[in-house]
Amino acid sequence: MKAFREIKPVDIPGNPVHRIGQEWMLVTAGTPEHFNTMTASWGAMGELWFNPVCFCFVRPQRYTYEFMQRNEAFTLSFFDERYRPQLNFCGSRSGRETDKAMECGFTPCKAANGSVYFDEASLVIECRTIYFHDIDPANILDPSILKHYPQRDFHRMFVGEITRAMEKV
Ligand SMILES: Cc1cc2nc3c(=O)[nH]c(=O)nc-3n(C[C@H](O)[C@H](O)[C@H](O)COP(=O)(O)O)c2cc1C
Repeated sequence: MKAFREIKPVDIPGNPVHRIGQEWMLVTAGTPEHFNTMTASWGAMGELWFNPVCFCFVRPQRYTYEFMQRNEAFTLSFFDERYRPQLNFCGSRSGRETDKAMECGFTPCKAANGSVYFDEASLVIECRTIYFHDIDPANILDPSILKHYPQRDFHRMFVGEITRAMEKV
């Protein structure tokens, strides 16, 4: 497996709209001993409070949500196209019923922030959770957005300060 090299957050390659929305990512929280991961395609990257940050949106029924709540760190792992089947798997199965990383053949690695990323990733972003907020239906200005919430399972938005970014050399 090739090595990672650390890059500055401002040098993270690719357009985040494409990276997150089209390529998808694994959101992972927990420790190497006890973690969970799920596929996400809703999120953002940018700057907030003078910090480089990532935003991700996790519905409350996800097993990953419990890990995001319990831990003060998470990672985003991005993969080459050949891993699309694994990302579909991690986006359709719950860690409550299966060890997704093992099923996918992913190698968990300890992140500098104590969380977990995967050695097979081509880009890893480690984050320290600095804020969360639940989507409030009272603040939804475009009613068509409500079609995404027939069960009223509004996402919790997690904002993570980027503490380390790494790309495959
Ligand atoms: C392409 C794709 C994108 C997804 N994006 C999100 C997302 O942004 N937020 C979310 O809560 N769930 C998202 N999901 C659904 C979760 O990945 C899925 O429910 C997963 O099984 C949750 O696993 P868990 O219960 O182990 O956390 C997405 C699924 C797919 C296939």
